[in-house]
Amino acid sequence: MSKLRALHRCQTCGATQPRWAGRCPSCGEWGSLREELAPQHGAGAVAGGGALFGAGGTGAAATSALALADVDPDGRPPMPTGLAEVDRVLAGGLLPGSATLLGGEPGTGKSTLLLQVLASMASSGKRCLLVAAEEAAHQVRRRASRLGADVPGVLVVEATDLASVEAALADVVPDVAVVDSVQAIRDAEVASSAGSPAQVRACANGLVALAKGIGTAIVLMGHVTKDGALAGPRALEHLVDTVLSFEGDRYSALRALRSLKHRYGPTGETGLFEMGEAGLSGVADPSNLFLGDRRAGVPGSAVTVPVEGHRPLLVEVQALVGRTTQVPRRYVTGLDAGRVGFLVAVLDRWAGVPVGERDVYVSVAGGARACEPAADLAVCLALASCISEVPVPAGLVAIGEVGLSGEVRRVSAMAERLAEARRLGFSQALVPSQGLPAASAVLGARPATTLGVALALALGGGRRPLPGRAPAGEVHQGRSPATAHGRRDAPPRRPGARLRALPAPAPS
Ligand code: TYD
Ligand code: MG
Repeated sequence: MSKLRALHRCQTCGATQPRWAGRCPSCGEWGSLREELAPQHGAGAVAGGGALFGAGGTGAAATSALALADVDPDGRPPMPTGLAEVDRVLAGGLLPGSATLLGGEPGTGKSTLLLQVLASMASSGKRCLLVAAEEAAHQVRRRASRLGADVPGVLVVEATDLASVEAALADVVPDVAVVDSVQAIRDAEVASSAGSPAQVRACANGLVALAKGIGTAIVLMGHVTKDGALAGPRALEHLVDTVLSFEGDRYSALRALRSLKHRYGPTGETGLFEMGEAGLSGVADPSNLFLGDRRAGVPGSAVTVPVEGHRPLLVEVQALVGRTTQVPRRYVTGLDAGRVGFLVAVLDRWAGVPVGERDVYVSVAGGARACEPAADLAVCLALASCISEVPVPAGLVAIGEVGLSGEVRRVSAMAERLAEARRLGFSQALVPSQGLPAASAVLGARPATTLGVALALALGGGRRPLPGRAPAGEVHQGRSPATAHGRRDAPPRRPGARLRALPAPAPS
């Protein structure tokens, strides 16, 4: 048994301090240091996050160094899980000897997902072990039967103490082990109760080091709270190779698996699932899913193409503008709320769309997200369409960042975004005039330098001016130098495409 020493760990950033302090010297958080016991250096402590492969312990005999050029880059290929959306996020699958942390709010479907992963890998001949620390084995079996996942190759062990889990791992030596959950395991050598930061860290340290030693890909499941605190597991992020987050709204069947850290591939990749009667199924065509319930021809709706990970998706931005009773409020779902506030100000100031003094509701339909600036143009378009009661043309997507001066700015991956829009049958794209790929001509790109021009291109050419706003004949074009510049590439006014006069904002 190793000797223990007291240290003080920040519950926010995970940094350790030899002495207690009211404020964490690393992250500046107040009152976040908690005392815990840790193995003393050189006393047989497990080196957390040490060697990626092979024995992770300390005090081992020196191993000989290799020339980097002599190292086989394909030494240990990933093991595909067989679930396409999971493999997309993991860049091919789980690497032997790797450690993965899967976090998510309780009830999102983490246990379901991992059981399906194990069943799929077992049916392709992998040795799979499920450590059931929260549910009894017969409950797991019942769930597996319902999911069609009661594959003979999946072994299950009911255990809540670290020594038993380690013994099972060492006995089975599985290719893949899932611990459901790491917060339900307890190390008898650590005084605090299961789920405390000290316990979670001690258990994860032991399990990760053992799994690396025997070449098992280990997946630790951890519950997080609504505000993102991983109640212990957050401090594990530096211990593991991959951190995944499983997210979903309890009122929607849509679930998203995101990679927040991945040592063996790109991060930020997203896999999408639908939770149904028979568990989780991958969403093969998310754009079709997100646009499935869309009613074209309704004011206040615009389609854009955010990039999730490396995959462009079509989503519908919906906006509603209401009378303000007191201070104007903003209700935002699926978008960056701060950014929507900024766009409201830009619309008001530079495009002559009087939304600033009204209640504004903006959401992305179907539980999807569009948190990148490329969605700016669609947010502005949806708001302008709502307030003018002129629908956005059904076959038009809007892609572009909007700047503080009302300019429309270039965004990355435009060719991929336009290709996805084309695949879904969209024929026009409202886009920045800069940074367009040559192929965009095929789609009917409508480049705009300013927001005012963009709105006029999408919503028509002749809106009656608001009192004290743009002079007669200028559509959605404010008073800025940027707008004046934009006027040069404004489209000719089209008769019959007049926007309705805007009602005056309610007195606040
Ligand atoms: P679970 O995997 O237990 O969530 P977690 O491990 O993240 O706490 O999933 C629980 C929810 O999933 C529960 O509300 C029921 C729902 N569910 C289905 O809708 N269909 C299914 O086939 C299964 C197994 C669960
Ligand atoms: Mg669970």
